[in-house]
Amino acid sequence: MEEFKIEPSERIKRLPPYLFGRLNALKLAKRQQQIDIIDLGMGNPSDPTPQVIVDKLCEAARDPRNQRYSASKGIYNLRKEVAIKYAKQYNVELDPNSEVLACIGSKEGFSHLCLAMLGPGDTVIVPDPAFPIHIYAVALAGANVVTVPLGNTQKSLDIIKETCEKLYPHPKMLILNFPHNPTAMTLDDLSYFETVVNIARKFNIAVIHDFAYGDTCFDGYKAPSFLSVKGAKDVGVEFSTLSKAYNMAGWRIGFAAGNKQMIEALATIKGYYDYGIFQAIQIASIIAMRHCENDTIEQNKKYQFRRDIVCDCLAKIGWQVEKPRASMFVWARVPDDQLKGKGTIDFAMDLIENANVVIAPGRAFGENGEGYMRIALVENENRLRQAFRNIKKYIQKG
Ligand SMILES: Cc1ncc(COP(=O)(O)O)c(C=O)c1O
Repeated sequence: MEEFKIEPSERIKRLPPYLFGRLNALKLAKRQQQIDIIDLGMGNPSDPTPQVIVDKLCEAARDPRNQRYSASKGIYNLRKEVAIKYAKQYNVELDPNSEVLACIGSKEGFSHLCLAMLGPGDTVIVPDPAFPIHIYAVALAGANVVTVPLGNTQKSLDIIKETCEKLYPHPKMLILNFPHNPTAMTLDDLSYFETVVNIARKFNIAVIHDFAYGDTCFDGYKAPSFLSVKGAKDVGVEFSTLSKAYNMAGWRIGFAAGNKQMIEALATIKGYYDYGIFQAIQIASIIAMRHCENDTIEQNKKYQFRRDIVCDCLAKIGWQVEKPRASMFVWARVPDDQLKGKGTIDFAMDLIENANVVIAPGRAFGENGEGYMRIALVENENRLRQAFRNIKKYIQKG
């Protein structure tokens, strides 16, 4: 009898290989053998959500009015709170009704916005290396990705502009992310975004700025919001999230803010797909933004402290690193003699196997990430130091 075969869609087949798959499988296998693995692989905050937020969630969850379906674009008071935060922090005015939307984590919002805006024949510019969903969401929407080397300088903007000029039809969208994952690259001021808005206007390109690490900054650095540039709302939207700064990754809540047409497109697609975030989570999120600024400051001090430890440890094993001033990652170049001709994916596999440490290989974020490793600052001092003792021992063994 002929084998019965069920095939996934062409859309699924368009996805590039998931390069973290092998690493995750090995990590799980080790854990099943009861081996203590120090996991610095993912930017998954390990510190608790501030207690007032949890308390508000519990209280709101008991109220039957919050147990019904909610509004798919988020309740008004939550969207208003986002507008208040933007006004206070970035001097940006937003209409909570037409320019703000709550999503089930910024990753969901980003992905559905791509689906709402893009289709076959469209091209999107994405700097490489990139947070993988910036590539996958475009591919899933049926559009094509053109990568450009990541940079925060005039030169990198010239490359983006040249790419817009050369490609015909012109690209439909540009995806940016500062502070950047995985490299932790930041912008000094608004000049980069100002040029982006000019390019976007000239070539009629929509911009999505992923601002997931906007509130996770150190050494007094303040990350600029794309929306604070004049004209930004005409060309794009910015995604923010409560996952990182408020340790609410599991709660699944983020926001899109900016261009009305893009927000409307996202609201439309979400109106078909979902019934909104659990209302008690939305109410607790208002408390987060209203009352937890100090918790964020304290959390950032923790990340800064861990960053210093990691940078010290890296210097001792000879990995080249620029101290990041934002994000929850350290991005470091591994010396060639330690890689011994291997790619970083194999090197990361070796570290799990021989040092019981997970760190993310740069190659998994794109070709330009090869040679680098990304360390997430999600463990305490002792565990971080232990991780690097293990790595050092492995490297010295040769
Ligand atoms: C750049 C970037 N964007 C978005 C996300 C996902 O955020 P959320 O939890 O809001 O979906 C992450 C998480 O690691 C990230 O690094």
